[in-house]
Amino acid sequence: MKILIVGSGGREHALAWRLKQSPRVTGIVAAPGNPGIAQLAECVNVAVDDIDGLVRLAKQERPNLVIVGPEAPLVLGLADKLRAIDIPVFGPSARAAMLEGSKGFSKDFMAKHNIPTARYRRFDTTQAAEAKAYLDTFDGPPYVLKADGLAAGKGVVIPETKAEAEAEIDAMLGGKFGSASASLVIEEFMHGEEASFFALCDGETAVPLAGAQDHKRVGDGDTGPNTGGMGAYSPAPILDAAMQQRVMDEIVTPTVEGMRKDGRPYRGVLFVGLMIDEKHGPRVVEYNVRFGDPECQVIMTRLKDDPLPQFLACATGGLAGCARLERFSDHAVTVVMAGAGYPGEPKKGGVISNIEDANKLEGVTVFHSGTKQEGEAILANGGRVLTVTATAPTLQDAVTQAYKAVDTIDWKDGFSRRDIAWRALKRG
Ligand code: AMP
Ligand code: GLY
Repeated sequence: MKILIVGSGGREHALAWRLKQSPRVTGIVAAPGNPGIAQLAECVNVAVDDIDGLVRLAKQERPNLVIVGPEAPLVLGLADKLRAIDIPVFGPSARAAMLEGSKGFSKDFMAKHNIPTARYRRFDTTQAAEAKAYLDTFDGPPYVLKADGLAAGKGVVIPETKAEAEAEIDAMLGGKFGSASASLVIEEFMHGEEASFFALCDGETAVPLAGAQDHKRVGDGDTGPNTGGMGAYSPAPILDAAMQQRVMDEIVTPTVEGMRKDGRPYRGVLFVGLMIDEKHGPRVVEYNVRFGDPECQVIMTRLKDDPLPQFLACATGGLAGCARLERFSDHAVTVVMAGAGYPGEPKKGGVISNIEDANKLEGVTVFHSGTKQEGEAILANGGRVLTVTATAPTLQDAVTQAYKAVDTIDWKDGFSRRDIAWRALKRG
């Protein structure tokens, strides 16, 4: 079978790496891919938001399955256009991708289907005064303000004072995030522990895949600005078997059922960002309509069963009759190596060496997130540049191996957090 993977990050490298091991996969094409993916696949230089270009590529290549890595092409309707020419796609339609593409849509959906989440209201550009008054309905700061549309991961602002929240309401409704913040969600701040849960869906059925936790802040001890994620581990101790069952029963199954009833059948991976505490159990922070990056790296390296049959079933139906993905390595950890300056403007162009030596360490796989190749050399070409991943029988061993690999890689402009998985290690 031929697979087309859309994307260029560590997430897509991990998907290509895992699918390459499937006995049924005969070839992988990636658009646009990256130098790491190029070792496993043919890379074609079509950008992820060039929907017409991607459709043309799919017509030429006629893949048996297209796997869409990032959310943007899904929100833009790539899956719809491919299904219209009978090419199976792992990923939701534009109407279903609104679960991530519009915070207001996802909040209204959860309210309609009684899915646990933070109390909220939506406001448009004419309602700044109402939005400010709504702040008084909460116990006090912090406040949670969310731009409705996609804002490159920056659309959530959590002010610590009422004055900051009021200024932020004016800024957002005034176009701080362009049309993405022409509509605003204000919601209750939820306390608890965050975790990510991933389920596979074929429009009718949902099956659990795995849980993970990531580290969003740039600095050790969860300090500094938010990033796309500085590291992750799987499994997440807080998502034990009983909690996973609750998440399936209280959130995932009602979501897939609700989407089906609303005429928006959800196909692909559903990534539920959760807040969990004793009092409320699991509640939804947000939905994503794709794998997390770097959560995908830890899930794909842990997974011992071939995911291809389930990925295909997500695209074409019949997931209920598919063998479950059950065999996983015990623990996986991934550490992001980022360019100095990230999440601001990162330093690019530095030479990275010893990646292959790091790859030879036991249990280690280095995924490329933002690199480019010049001749034989691998150069830094992004904010998040490498995701260094290790599996091991214990979490501590996985952490040790991942950092051994990070320390083997030679890149003078690179930095990592040194405390990935601290919370899980502390639990013991
Ligand atoms: P999002 O972009 O929706 O993932 O939000 C970014 C981060 O903001 C989340 O990972 C949470 O840490 C935090 N966050 C979002 N909504 C809430 C909420 N209602 N209560 C507490 N934290 C939140
Ligand atoms: N690592 C979080 C995300 O992919 O959204």
